[in-house]
Formats: sequence, C-alpha cells, structure tokens
Amino acid sequence: MQSIKQLELIHAFAQKKMQTDQTGHGFDHILRVVNNARYILKHENQPTNELITLSAAYLHDIADDKLVTDPVKADQQLQTFLATIGFSVDQINEILLITDNLAFSKTLGKKQFVLPLAGQIVQDADRLDAIGAIGITRAIYYGGVYHEKIYDPTIPPRTQLSKTAYRDLTQETIINHFYEKLLKLKALMNTATGKQLAEKRQQFMLAFLSEFKAEWQINQQ
Ligand code: ADP
Ligand code: NI
Repeated sequence: MQSIKQLELIHAFAQKKMQTDQTGHGFDHILRVVNNARYILKHENQPTNELITLSAAYLHDIADDKLVTDPVKADQQLQTFLATIGFSVDQINEILLITDNLAFSKTLGKKQFVLPLAGQIVQDADRLDAIGAIGITRAIYYGGVYHEKIYDPTIPPRTQLSKTAYRDLTQETIINHFYEKLLKLKALMNTATGKQLAEKRQQFMLAFLSEFKAEWQINQQ
C-alpha cells in the first residue's frame, strides 16, 4: 500500500479514537501536532523517515495512560491496525517506540530516554501545542475538566515531581501547572526549529502570567 493511502487510513483511525476526548487532547490537537511535525520536518533538513514521523504524530496519544483505561490493550489494537494496513513489524516497532516514550509524564522520576530523530520531532510538535496561546487554553480547559483551582498563592508550585504526584490534582492549580511543566518545555525542545517556535510562545505565556498576577493582586486589595 502507498504511504499516502496509509496516512489517510491512520488519519481516519486517529479521528475515530480521539473525537470523543474532552480533556484538550481531541482530534484538533492531533491535527495541530501533525502539522507542527510536517513543519519541523521541512525546516530541519535532516534525513528522517516522513511516514514514521507523521504516523507517530497521528497516533501519539492513542494509548496514553491518562486517556485510556487499558493502555496495553490500546497498544495491541494499534499494532493490529498498523499490520492490517501493511506496516512491517519493524515499522510498527519504530512507531510504538515513539508513541510509548513521548509523554512528559513518562520522563518524570526517570532517566531521560533518547528518542530517535523522528520521535524527537513528534515530541517537539506535541510540546509546541502545550505552550503559547493554545497551550494556555488547553491548560485552562484541562484544569476545568478536573476541577482544579484556578490559582492559590498559598500553594507553591511543586518541584521534584514523580509521575504519581504529577497526576495527583488535589493540590494542583491551573497557574501552578505553568511552573510545573509548561514553562519548562522551551528548554526541553529537541530540534532547532522547535526551539525557535517555542521562543515566542514562551514570551506569550510569561506575559499572560504576569498580567494574571497583577489583576489577581488588584482583586485582593
Ligand atoms: P504528556 O502526555 O506529555 O505527559 P500531559 O498529560 O502532562 O502531557 O499534558 C498534556 C496537556 O494537558 C498539557 O500540555 C496541559 O495543557 C494539560 N495538562 C496536563 N496536566 C495538567 C494540569 N495539572 N493542569 C492543567 N493542565 C494540564
Ligand atoms: Ni499530545
């Protein structure tokens, strides 16, 4: 099967799986990540497998443990699907190596896993969608779904986060999530293109936080 056709089928598969998400990881997020990945691929000018990169971008959230109750089963379904549309065992392994090791939460409390370049591109593409104006909107949306407080100046952002602590939202505030994760992503970008795109988005988040706190303080007087 031609790779264009395979990508069309992956597009439809990801759309079906992600369209019911209500945590800011819906299919619109997936499409932005695919587009970011295309952009980075084009500007990085390094030999990378485009089919593997874009497939992993489409599929990166499908077996995520915050979104599905049984990630092992979701991974198995994904493998079966990829085999049905003509991917070889090696290609399937390359894609799953990326989708299984991409998440920020998976890097917490562990030695950083070095992703292949295709994975580094998808990781940057995903992280770009977590920062800037869209990142701000997604964090507020996610915080709303999980009933986080907006802000509480008496709760300091957590530093040394384990994965379990990161997913414990009882003490979390939306504003603290910026300090615990979102502001750190710029420095974690893998590619030069990712770093360049992250710069403006970082400035926008910093401006947002400073305006937010200024308004909050007026309300406290
Ligand atoms: P990953 O899949 O890389 O581990 P996360 O699950 O941490 O990513 O986050 C995906 C997106 O969900 C974040 O970029 C952010 O927008 C939102 N999010 C995650 N945790 C929180 C939180 N505690 N408060 C607000 N938003 C969150
Ligand atoms: Ni994602």
